[in-house]
Amino acid sequence: MRSESPKSSENTFESVTAFAPATVANVACGFDLLGFALEAPGDEVTARFYEDTITREGAQAMQKTQALQSMKGAPQTDHRTPGVVISSIHNDGGRLPLEPESNTAGKAVLALLEDYFGKLDHESEDQNEKFSWDIELEITKKMPFGSGLGSSAASAVAAVTAVNQLIGTPYTKSELLPFALEGEAVASGAKHADNVAPSLLGGFVMVSSQDPTFHTQVPYPDTLTAVVLYPHIEIKTRDSRNVLPESVSFRDAVLQTEYMAGLITGLTTGDLNLIRRSLHDRLAEPYRASLIPGYTELKNAAIRSGALGCSISGSGPSVFALTEDPGLAEGIGAAMALVMKTKDIPADLYISPINRTGSLCIASTPSPSNP
Ligand code: HSE
Repeated sequence: MRSESPKSSENTFESVTAFAPATVANVACGFDLLGFALEAPGDEVTARFYEDTITREGAQAMQKTQALQSMKGAPQTDHRTPGVVISSIHNDGGRLPLEPESNTAGKAVLALLEDYFGKLDHESEDQNEKFSWDIELEITKKMPFGSGLGSSAASAVAAVTAVNQLIGTPYTKSELLPFALEGEAVASGAKHADNVAPSLLGGFVMVSSQDPTFHTQVPYPDTLTAVVLYPHIEIKTRDSRNVLPESVSFRDAVLQTEYMAGLITGLTTGDLNLIRRSLHDRLAEPYRASLIPGYTELKNAAIRSGALGCSISGSGPSVFALTEDPGLAEGIGAAMALVMKTKDIPADLYISPINRTGSLCIASTPSPSNP
């Protein structure tokens, strides 16, 4: 049994469920640097204080022990650092690991708790008994993985968003970014924040490739609408990164710089013509396009239907188009879906305004000790 949960006098929740949205990374010219969030789909994670008596036994108890033992830099005091137990993962077809260190959501929460307990340990010498609790996570996948829509980032972001509220909201949203990044790195093998940051914060977010926790939100026109087609093939981010070249030509580097500068300026000032002429990619698309059947036709169909631009979402296979006119979105989507139909490739279509909120808590169970 756990003893008291953290900040017991202030703690108001027994469990919290958070949602984190899918994201489109790169946005054509911003490889590893830019992403935006969709309203849907997204993942949900429920976090609750773990009690040995509820659901856990055997293998999962072992996972918890391993996670505790493997936490780096855990303070050597009488109390133990709280651990993470992943009790269940829904809709993953049994493919995602329950072992917290190997799971994007589990790893992100381990990183959060390590930091949180490091701080508490520093501040207080005599509260050891209060810290003997663990966190149980229940993950519900509501979006496809290997889709280029930031599935692993969404799980990591939903997990840290839920846990943060559960333990009394000690962190701002921006402060959660490094923890979610730790989770994302488990899945993709690299710490790039172009999915994690927009999933957490909403809107368009520009991140640094050298310091992925450095980020800035980019204003954009209110009516901007995304059309995303997800063909039912799976491309792993690692594989999609492996097709990229070691170096690119000077000409391509100059063009990409022009596109990125143009896109950020166009978004910020609402200059649609500048957005249109900037939604191009010389760094990744030329090498990744062949991984997506019918890619050129998809792109042509979207542009012919009035899209401002169209490119690969993240590492693919999803393909996104942007339009400033929500009334055009259905037609753009229909044209893209038709291309997939002629190729007999099942596909899902998502049409969404840009999500301004990012992750959010969608349900909670108040603690019985609440006044
Ligand atoms: N920027 C990353 C890539 C996103 O394109 O590899 C992966 O989701």
